[in-house]
Amino acid sequence: MKARMENGRTEDIKAVWFENGKVRMIDQRELPLKLVIVDFEDYRDVAMAIKNMTTRGAPCIGASAAYAMCLAGLKKEDLDEAARYIKAARPTAYDLFYATDWMYDRLKAGDDPVRAADAYSDLTVDKCRKIGEYGGALIRDGMKLMTHCNAGALATVDVGTALAPMRNAHDAGKKFFVYASETRPRLQGMQLTAWELNQEGIDHAIIPDGSAAYYMSQGVDMIIVGADRIAANGDFANKIGTFDKAIVAKHFGIPFYVAAPVSTFDFSTKTGKDIVIEQRSEEEMTMVKDIRIAPVGSKALNPAFDVTPAEFVTGFITEKGIFKPTEISEMKE
Ligand code: MRU
Repeated sequence: MKARMENGRTEDIKAVWFENGKVRMIDQRELPLKLVIVDFEDYRDVAMAIKNMTTRGAPCIGASAAYAMCLAGLKKEDLDEAARYIKAARPTAYDLFYATDWMYDRLKAGDDPVRAADAYSDLTVDKCRKIGEYGGALIRDGMKLMTHCNAGALATVDVGTALAPMRNAHDAGKKFFVYASETRPRLQGMQLTAWELNQEGIDHAIIPDGSAAYYMSQGVDMIIVGADRIAANGDFANKIGTFDKAIVAKHFGIPFYVAAPVSTFDFSTKTGKDIVIEQRSEEEMTMVKDIRIAPVGSKALNPAFDVTPAEFVTGFITEKGIFKPTEISEMKE
């Protein structure tokens, strides 16, 4: 992804990578005010970085987990214990489990840890490029698009899932506009998606979460979101607030697409009812930095994701093409 560095130069960097024996990643909690790179040498610290959302977004969580397993492999740690520890970082994003198992198998087979993790990461980016090609073809000049949360390069190592079609269409010279919803309480839409769209020069505006129905009533041509886990029947978990948008989109007849690699599809989970929804801390809701903004004594609830039933999905944009929810079984690897 393009990123303006501290020295004022624009460079092409990834959200996570391996360099000189260390896992390096953009600290996504610091954006958009600062571009901070952090380093880790122990798999437990990478797991903590996943948990505290230094790194986040399903495919990027997957790649970070792959690099955590790489550190475990390099230091000859107990791989079963490392895999268990890394998988415990967050419960919902399926890529975390997929990537950890993928690396476990490679390490057990004797593959070089760095080469294997780099291969996993490169594969993730290749899949995103294909998602961009399939999804980009849906975008026409003059369209108004809407997205939620951050499903861009930061969430996927590079390129993105929901943002990949937008990047592809922008590179092809198409002119379109993106509504990015702010995404309370962690503000991934305002702080990360808007940062990425800015870096790419894609015309956009940040909107309050509660205004999505208003803007849809004024005319939105297509919605593209990412996903954290997609069940075998096409029900999918994504950032809290996705379900509301899908319901409103159906009301207005707006096409609603979910962009995700096949590694986000959990074919062993039959329906969305079986997806575990992460409950995060009250403080993410009640505090801004160190300042409490909610009344002392009020409780806060903070589910990180919701599940949108398959009937609301127009299509899943994957690296293998675009599938209706009823066609999902055809994409199995
Ligand atoms: O809690 P996060 O920031 O990890 O949640 C991310 C999302 O919900 C994204 O929309 C989803 O992971 C798709 S990422 C390409």
